[in-house]
Amino acid sequence: MEKQEIRTFGRRHGKKLSPRKQLLLETVLPAFLPKNIKNAGNLILEIGFGNGEHVRDLAIRNPESIIIGAEPFMNGVAALLSAITNESTNEIMNEYKNIRIWPDDVRKMFNELDAKFNEIWVLHPDPWPKARHEKRRLLNADFLSVLGTKLMPNGQIIIGTDHWEYFDWIVEQSKKTALNASFPAQSVIHTRYAEKNMAKTTEPKYLILSN
Ligand SMILES: C[S@@+](CC[C@H](N)C(=O)[O-])C[C@H]1O[C@@H](n2cnc3c(N)ncnc32)[C@H](O)[C@@H]1O
Repeated sequence: MEKQEIRTFGRRHGKKLSPRKQLLLETVLPAFLPKNIKNAGNLILEIGFGNGEHVRDLAIRNPESIIIGAEPFMNGVAALLSAITNESTNEIMNEYKNIRIWPDDVRKMFNELDAKFNEIWVLHPDPWPKARHEKRRLLNADFLSVLGTKLMPNGQIIIGTDHWEYFDWIVEQSKKTALNASFPAQSVIHTRYAEKNMAKTTEPKYLILSN
């Protein structure tokens, strides 16, 4: 974020962390920062991973890919670290060795990391439902266009939300970009916010954007 960007997320810190999670943030997180991956092969990005359930799923389903998760909420980062490391040794579990973590706003990462992705996932982005907060919505036309420039040829941006009004808004925003939209028949992807279903809709809707 070179200029001051509008903040698209809520809190950076929640309830006090357990001693183990605090230790993981201080001593293990540095090894997970995405460095030297410009020329890596398959790259997948998840923006706003929450507690990281889907990042873990991506890591297991794509063992040949590097999965980068971006999340500024440090309790979420700590939750992911806790789930991918051995409880007694704090060592990374084998099946999660392809995970990298950017513990901040993804827009800052784009200033530092010149990489292109095969897939970019955004599941249950903060809907900012009040009209006066609409400017906080991450998936506006400008940012979708930026994401388009971060895609490999034939890459995809996969977006899902249970907030149907935000979904329709994202579809409208995408029409202002050069991206092509398609609507996959997709079974529900289980994440914390998919389970919470704060929008009280019957199911999440999914959208794929591609170049
Ligand atoms: C409603 S939560 C959904 C979390 C998770 N994807 C899920 O489905 O359970 C949205 C997440 O997006 C994160 N977020 C918002 N703006 C972001 C940004 N600019 N960069 C990275 N993450 C962001 C928030 O911190 C929050 O954890």
